[in-house]
Amino acid sequence: MNILHICADPQPMEEAASKQIAASFFAQLVTMNENAKITNVDLTQEHPADYTTEEFRNFWYPVLIDGYVPTKEEEEAATYAKQQAEILRDTDILVLTMPMWNYSMPAMMKAWLDHVLSPGLLYQVTDSGNVPLHKIKKLVLLISSHQVFSEQDPRDGLTPALETSFEDIGLSDVSVIWADGQNPKHHVDFENRKSVALEAAEELAEEICEDFS
Ligand SMILES: Cc1cc2nc3c(=O)[nH]c(=O)nc-3n(C[C@H](O)[C@H](O)[C@H](O)COP(=O)(O)O)c2cc1C
Repeated sequence: MNILHICADPQPMEEAASKQIAASFFAQLVTMNENAKITNVDLTQEHPADYTTEEFRNFWYPVLIDGYVPTKEEEEAATYAKQQAEILRDTDILVLTMPMWNYSMPAMMKAWLDHVLSPGLLYQVTDSGNVPLHKIKKLVLLISSHQVFSEQDPRDGLTPALETSFEDIGLSDVSVIWADGQNPKHHVDFENRKSVALEAAEELAEEICEDFS
């Protein structure tokens, strides 16, 4: 089982609820499946660059313009996206760890997503829709936030964006573990909320090991 873990939380582990959820998830996962291969990508170290016009042309002009061949410069602009997509194409389970920032995902996670969800990398654009070019079976979202969110909360611009983006490329099995209410000034039960998420992460890891062994 190949797992790709993308983390976009700049806080140190002891202060980062999302990273602690990830630690709980992976501790249980490796306990149950010592053969699991985990690749970690820390976006706070990688700093994915902004998407450029050259990168757009490299990926989208061949889709939009018959016979378009990208220039060398356009190809080079796609290097990071291609390198990440290569890991993704060999991934069974994709785990994204992040805090909620301004009702959405941190910009570094969005930048990573914009790079990798390019045509020709993880999916092919055809007249009848997108055809997946990956074998990812499950998406796991590990999230933390100050505020408390209900299911299908209209303020949540994070989970629907990720779920829909991956659904577009044929990945609809998504699990979300969310430690919300992490502002100790506003939520006296913030520790308990985190404990529930840590436990849920362990349970999810167990389920995944059983389902994908
Ligand atoms: C730039 C920024 C924007 C934030 N925006 C939100 C927000 O929109 N909603 C929310 O509930 N919390 C927001 N927060 C709070 C974080 O989601 C919260 O502190 C979270 O627990 C941090 O995750 P961590 O403990 O994993 O680092 C924001 C924090 C920062 C730094």
